[in-house]
Amino acid sequence: QKESFQQLLQKIVEKGVTLQGVVHLWSLLSDSQQLNQAQELVCGSTLHLIQALTEVLASQLPPLWLVTQGAQCIAAQTTINVQQSPLWGLGRVIALEHPELKCHRVDLDPNHASIAEGVEMLLQELFAPDAEDQVAYRQGERHVARLERFVPQASEEYPQQLRLRAYGTLDNLVLQPQQRRQPERGEVEIQVRAVGLNFRDVLTALGMMQEYTQHLFDSAEQVVFGGECAGVVVAVGSDVEHLQVGDEVVLALAIGCLAHYMTIPAELALPKPQNLSFEAAATLPTAFITAHYGLNYLANLQPGERVLIHSAAGGVGQAAVQLAQRRGAEVFATASLPKWKFLQQQGVEQIMDSRTLEFAEQVKAATEDLGVDVVLNSFNEEYIPYSFQTLAHGGRFIEIGKINIWSQSKAKEHRPDAKYEVFDLVEMVREQPELIAQLWSELGTELRTGQLQPLPHQVFELGQVQEAFRYLQQAKHIGKVVVAIPPLKEQKKVEIQAQGSYLVTGGLGALGLEVSKWLADKGARHLVLMGRSSPSAEAQTAIAQLEDLGVKVSVQLADVSCSEQVSQIMQRIEGELPSLRGVIHAAGVLDDGVLQNMSWQQFVKVMLPKVEGTWHLHQLTKDLPLDFFVCFSSMSSLLGNPGQGNYAAANEFMDAIAHYRRGMGLPGLSINWGAWASSGMAASLAGQHQQRLESSGISAIEPQQGMQALGSLLSESPSQVGVLPINWSKFVSQLPSGQKIPFLEALISIEPSLTQKSAFKAQLEAAAISERQELLTIHIRSAIAKALGWRDGQKIGMRQPLFDLGLDSLMAVELKNRLESSLETNLSSTLLFDYPTVEVLVEYLANDVIPIEFSSNLDEIENLEQEEIDNTFRFQEISEDEMANLLARKLESLEGKKS
Ligand SMILES: NC(=O)c1ccc[n+]([C@@H]2O[C@H](COP(=O)([O-])OP(=O)(O)OC[C@H]3O[C@@H](n4cnc5c(N)ncnc54)[C@H](OP(=O)(O)O)[C@@H]3O)[C@@H](O)[C@H]2O)c1
Repeated sequence: QKESFQQLLQKIVEKGVTLQGVVHLWSLLSDSQQLNQAQELVCGSTLHLIQALTEVLASQLPPLWLVTQGAQCIAAQTTINVQQSPLWGLGRVIALEHPELKCHRVDLDPNHASIAEGVEMLLQELFAPDAEDQVAYRQGERHVARLERFVPQASEEYPQQLRLRAYGTLDNLVLQPQQRRQPERGEVEIQVRAVGLNFRDVLTALGMMQEYTQHLFDSAEQVVFGGECAGVVVAVGSDVEHLQVGDEVVLALAIGCLAHYMTIPAELALPKPQNLSFEAAATLPTAFITAHYGLNYLANLQPGERVLIHSAAGGVGQAAVQLAQRRGAEVFATASLPKWKFLQQQGVEQIMDSRTLEFAEQVKAATEDLGVDVVLNSFNEEYIPYSFQTLAHGGRFIEIGKINIWSQSKAKEHRPDAKYEVFDLVEMVREQPELIAQLWSELGTELRTGQLQPLPHQVFELGQVQEAFRYLQQAKHIGKVVVAIPPLKEQKKVEIQAQGSYLVTGGLGALGLEVSKWLADKGARHLVLMGRSSPSAEAQTAIAQLEDLGVKVSVQLADVSCSEQVSQIMQRIEGELPSLRGVIHAAGVLDDGVLQNMSWQQFVKVMLPKVEGTWHLHQLTKDLPLDFFVCFSSMSSLLGNPGQGNYAAANEFMDAIAHYRRGMGLPGLSINWGAWASSGMAASLAGQHQQRLESSGISAIEPQQGMQALGSLLSESPSQVGVLPINWSKFVSQLPSGQKIPFLEALISIEPSLTQKSAFKAQLEAAAISERQELLTIHIRSAIAKALGWRDGQKIGMRQPLFDLGLDSLMAVELKNRLESSLETNLSSTLLFDYPTVEVLVEYLANDVIPIEFSSNLDEIENLEQEEIDNTFRFQEISEDEMANLLARKLESLEGKKS
């Protein structure tokens, strides 16, 4: 009763007590109740509480926590307490209508060991200092709600490609639908089966290559990954003679091949050695072609000659070692210490440290001052003159690096006796595209017979592509990291059967009739359309059109919220029609109003068809072999909508039932539709309401679009999906606080205009000065945990050296990027080396970086000299090995600071 809450609050006010918060626990008692009584306890009590709070406390509203238990679906295949779930939909509307209540929703673990444990979790939540307002606890872990863009499962119809949401962290790598391109003249289309990752891919994702890739990509969203791969020809353009469908090939210089398909000039598709797997073959093209051309063409390496191969454990280095050994040359190799053993196993005897310049002296000593006949160089700066020192009189110096390399004249001046050749694979292909095929065919026999071996490689599945990037990022491996891409299957389609019946509740309404037409189009011949009132003139016309198509339409006048009436319809279907194969539950009514003015009767009216109705449909069909059970829910329950507290609660129940049914192994799909154009509920709303939708960035769904979405969702396997054309920046800008809300984080991070305002920064500014340091500490720990791939950051000790936890140099770059965006500031690349524990990091950021006040007496710490790592990456078209070497050397010098 609203009056009871009023009295209670009045008493509190009279006693002069200031309410610090309100915790609503009534829902926890609802399980044993009938569905309708449960709703009164769950939603009725909340409605009356809100009304009493806003009336009695008006301007001094305390924060509100709505507590449920097991009402949210955290993991698939678990049952949920559907009775309590409408409170979450209502909560979303409360949050919009009364932002001052800071309405939190907390879902406790239905299986916690004891009530005390549940209470402990709840208390923990009440004092949680972060901005999360939709939280669930399961087995002691805290889960937060995030809306994610739905990507259809990859299938022949929906191939995917790896893309980037924003520069900065590997979390931003996402598989997105790929647009296939038919091969034009001289081109072939390849179904990609394995991709050799390159270091360049990692640096691109972290945003470290922007300066050098801007001619390829204007923004992060345009970035594509992958450069070499193996696959199968699936389409051939005109004028291509040497390839046909079914041929297995490898591709070099295939930018963007981290995808299911790739269309590319035919001369870049080279025959795959049949004895090799796709994964092994994907390691070959760039490394072997580069090494072969460098050593055998440019240097014309001869048996018995000596060759210095820099970075011999790297990709090109590895290929060069094998080719030089095959030629009968003596290999002098440089590599970092941990990789020596590997080279020794390959029979390399002369191995030197690549991290110092001592190799020059060592080569001379080992060759009685004669030096080597050939140098294959990928190092730069002072390594170049030192490498020249190792070169015998009249020797050949092959440069495969690209940055800060020497010009012909400089080399001539320095060593007039030497032959100096600069080689760039991209350039070579541009000038002589036919050469690549020739080089490859020369390698072919040896690769086929196993005389040349593919590079050692670690394979990851496409679904683990982020892990693959992280593995490469750690740069501890030898050889290549390969992403395997299994061939796509055809999408599993739900067949609409002529020999089955389909029940559409609300079938005489606007969307019900649309769906009926769509079902008929797809082959349905027996439709049962249910509504309470006789068909309107419009509905009669539509039914007549269906009948003209040969569809048998059975109109059933019944109330879906009445169990007996639904049961009678089921009996009729069983007795008179083919077996029921699908249910579309589209019955519903609206009765809008702000919560302050809404009566419980209004609530009940809207809840009946969606709560009671859905429950009856579920109960009465759960033993039938249905192909689908679809609830027409609304975006109101997903995002909230002011004035629709009752409707949001009712739709949330449908969402929950879809999850619930899936937990039972039954079909279940709830679609949170946006507003439909032209007819139906949304179209009948007042112009003012429609205008509000428009101004909040939501546009209408065209019937054809909507039905197409329905068709593809039926074949997919999600339990709940929102379908709404929405401009997120407009949507977020009209929200009460104007701030980023955590629930939408994953979606709005791809809208550049919205990333400008960080949710954490806003939260920090809003927090009391005394709380800020703690907030910052929690934030930093969780950012570190993310970089490490851990779930929980709170276990990280304040003084634990981060590099001892497994943080490495590239993770440090990622972490720095993450902090830069959440703190809206620029940070030095050496941040984590300069401040290598949570404690010093927090001190530094609070005192010297974040321009707001923190209450702390921490001593001023000296601003350490900051070194810019980025300058080192002044590379253009830089080679893979070169990049790895540069980075390794730079990071090693940084790591020196650590100790
Ligand atoms: N249209 C939109 O923009 C939109 C957006 C999001 C979600 N949706 C959802 O999609 C569904 C269909 O919407 P619509 O636009 O087609 O609405 P509509 O034109 O108003 O149709 C709804 C139908 O449901 C029937 N109905 C209501 N209560 C019933 C009950 N207790 N038992 C049996 N039938 C009942 C109504 O007929 P009687 O009153 O004669 O029974 C009416 O024909 C609704 O559930 C709605 O929540 C629609």
